[in-house]
Amino acid sequence: MVLFEYIETWNKRRRSKSEDHINPWIYKPVEYWQLEVQNPPANKHHGSSVFTLKEMEEATRSFSDENLLGKGGFGRVYKGTLRSGEIVAIKKMELPPFKEAEGEHEFRVEVDILSRMDHANLVSLIGYCADGKHRFLVYEYMQNGNLQDHLNGIGEAKMDWPLRLKVALGAARGLAYLHSSAVGIPIVHRDFKSTNILLNTNFEAKISDFGLAKLMPEGQETYVTARMLGTFGYFDPEYTSTGKLTLQSDVYAFGVVLLELLTGRRAVDLNQGPNDQNLVLQVRHILNNKKKLRKVIDTEMNRNSYTMESIVMFANLASRCVRTESGERPSMAECVKELQLIFYTNSKGLASFSLL
Ligand SMILES: Nc1ncnc2c1ncn2[C@@H]1O[C@H](COP(=O)(O)OP(=O)(O)OP(=O)(O)O)[C@@H](O)[C@H]1O
Ligand SMILES: [Mg+2]
Repeated sequence: MVLFEYIETWNKRRRSKSEDHINPWIYKPVEYWQLEVQNPPANKHHGSSVFTLKEMEEATRSFSDENLLGKGGFGRVYKGTLRSGEIVAIKKMELPPFKEAEGEHEFRVEVDILSRMDHANLVSLIGYCADGKHRFLVYEYMQNGNLQDHLNGIGEAKMDWPLRLKVALGAARGLAYLHSSAVGIPIVHRDFKSTNILLNTNFEAKISDFGLAKLMPEGQETYVTARMLGTFGYFDPEYTSTGKLTLQSDVYAFGVVLLELLTGRRAVDLNQGPNDQNLVLQVRHILNNKKKLRKVIDTEMNRNSYTMESIVMFANLASRCVRTESGERPSMAECVKELQLIFYTNSKGLASFSLL
């Protein structure tokens, strides 16, 4: 059912936005090629490896706390070293009991689809383990952790504007790839957020946990409370009210991440007063007001790293992504093009300042 909805939405999009697919290089300035060259080679793991429970235990020193990287709505994530010496991130899935009972087949089918995803801006799925009741996903290890920690983390050097734009562009490309039918059908991420944008040694952004929501039972998210809390703030209001999932739900969540990059604030901040907890509600009305916009720019961001012109363009894009009506939001392919232009506008503006 849901698959048909994806395809329908995508087909509509393809008919109206076919130009995006034909000429993805529009607006691509010389400066931008530098970023491209730095991108690592495409996924070297084609297909998925199958691991035993014993291998998972060995890799993580029996899931020791020292190896724990974090905990999310699907379970805990551990740093691990495979027998080959490769360093990986191992997600120990905590599935609800009735999902376990469905057995390995569905898990394998879903994981096989995910392992076919191959893009520089998606975290590669190296393999999986489905041993008895145990389920693990094995991912490439991302040295610099998640984006949210870099925006809100304590004691970290804050990211400057070009780096934030580079992250936004990488994430946009990853989502645009998922939304294109690269593996036969468009995939909706469903859980796009700043903790699911991971950064490698060169601070290249890769999206993680795509397609994972499908492994969870539909409409049963309350099974894992952390997941509900973690995702609150990124929910597409149209999805919440109609229950209809579209590619545009990811675009909404992408808009929220753009706002986090701009303001350095969290999507949901429970330390704020009841009216200021939700970032979108807090800043939506001022995004197209240049004067008020200045007040919400992350004060921790180096002032010499951005031009107001690029900030205005960025805020305008974010405001369109978080529109209540899903049909009024841009496609991810459009976001990619606009972010390229914003990146270019910023570097050109900064270069002309330095000539003065
Ligand atoms: N491939 C990886 N490489 C390095 N660190 C990772 C990797 N995958 C996850 N992590 C770390 O583990 C933490 C927990 O990840 P997890 O995906 O379980 O939770 P989440 O992203 O906060 O929420 P959700 O379950 O909704 O995705 C992440 O925030 C990240 O810092
Ligand atoms: Mg995650």
